Amino acid sequence: MELPNGQIIQSKHLKETTMDPQAKKTALRMITHGLYLLTVKHDDQLNASTVSWLSQASFDPPLVMAGVKADTLTHALVEKSRQFAINLLAVGQTEMAQTFFKQAEREGDKLSGYTFEPGPATGAPIFLDVPAWFECRVTDMIKRGDHTVVVAEVIEAGVRDPNATPMALRDTTWHYGG
Ligand SMILES: Cc1cc2nc3c(=O)[nH]c(=O)nc-3n(C[C@H](O)[C@H](O)[C@H](O)COP(=O)(O)O)c2cc1C
Repeated sequence: MELPNGQIIQSKHLKETTMDPQAKKTALRMITHGLYLLTVKHDDQLNASTVSWLSQASFDPPLVMAGVKADTLTHALVEKSRQFAINLLAVGQTEMAQTFFKQAEREGDKLSGYTFEPGPATGAPIFLDVPAWFECRVTDMIKRGDHTVVVAEVIEAGVRDPNATPMALRDTTWHYGG
């Protein structure tokens, strides 16, 4: 169908729709998100990437799901290694979040200047500065659109500061969604 602004909307799954793209964007941006560092190790290659599309998805087994951009190094390494870690970020760690919008650079036991140790289960980097972390083994990769939904089982976890306040996307000037 053609909207007054000339946009053509087609879907294999839905009937014709008059969805307003601005309403779609605004509504999707009202989903609350945190900010996390997804880290991964495959052979000798490491990376860390700041992600917001993460949620728990099951209690038993403990599953999480993450939306991982399909054309990234992170995606390639997660697909090859079938495992990753999530480093929780706390309020005040904005600079660290910003650092990992870009590909990580390794110098010894540092990634882009932040010291890490290998996760006990996966070897993925666990940053010393983060309040909590968990490691995951991938169970499913659902490839749709420009991001892949990665479903993974939580197999190891650690907490350094149980009183930390987790960083929320809405408390930053950044957007990812819409
Ligand atoms: C606020 C914000 C949130 C982001 N959230 C995600 C996300 O949920 N998933 C994702 O794959 N990339 C996300 N990104 C993009 C990544 O931080 C990063 O640019 C990309 O993964 C680079 O990947 P690479 O280092 O693997 O090449 C986000 C970027 C910003 C600015």
